[in-house]
Amino acid sequence: MERTLVLLKPDCVERRLIGRILGRFEDKGLNIIAMKLIRITPDLAKQHYAEHVSKPFYPGLESFITAAPVVALVLEGLEAISVVRGILGATSGLKAEAGTIRGDFSSSRQMNLVHASDGPEAAKREIELYFQPEEVLDYKPTLTPWMR
Ligand code: TYD
Ligand code: MG
Repeated sequence: MERTLVLLKPDCVERRLIGRILGRFEDKGLNIIAMKLIRITPDLAKQHYAEHVSKPFYPGLESFITAAPVVALVLEGLEAISVVRGILGATSGLKAEAGTIRGDFSSSRQMNLVHASDGPEAAKREIELYFQPEEVLDYKPTLTPWMR
């Protein structure tokens, strides 16, 4: 089992797409083990996007990610990191394939609705950035255990 950090970004919240996007992860059978609505501060944005802070697109990215609340969640499942990245699609909504979240809902290179960790190290770092250990619940679906 892997865990990955997902953000439903300000455009997702403003466009009232939280339910439909969460539904895609639930449809896949991923387990939501932590979730909250928060406002990302400029300081947190710089930590989250540390690898991008010096890039030309960063100022616009920081303005966007801090502009409205986001939903932060941790998803758990088999190969969850790559599975969730696949459900998101390519970074740019203009390039992402139909059938992916970004391909179906985004027509922007910046406002692409969802973030997900891109590897095991990022997942660990990002989960710790957004959640205290006690906020991440350790439970398994025992009533409908279709993932094995
Ligand atoms: P990146 O980590 O490359 O993409 P991903 O979200 O798929 O892991 O970039 C982080 C975010 O920065 C990306 O979701 C959208 C934004 N961004 C731009 O606004 N312009 C760009 O040219 C790139 C590469 C990213
Ligand atoms: Mg990334």
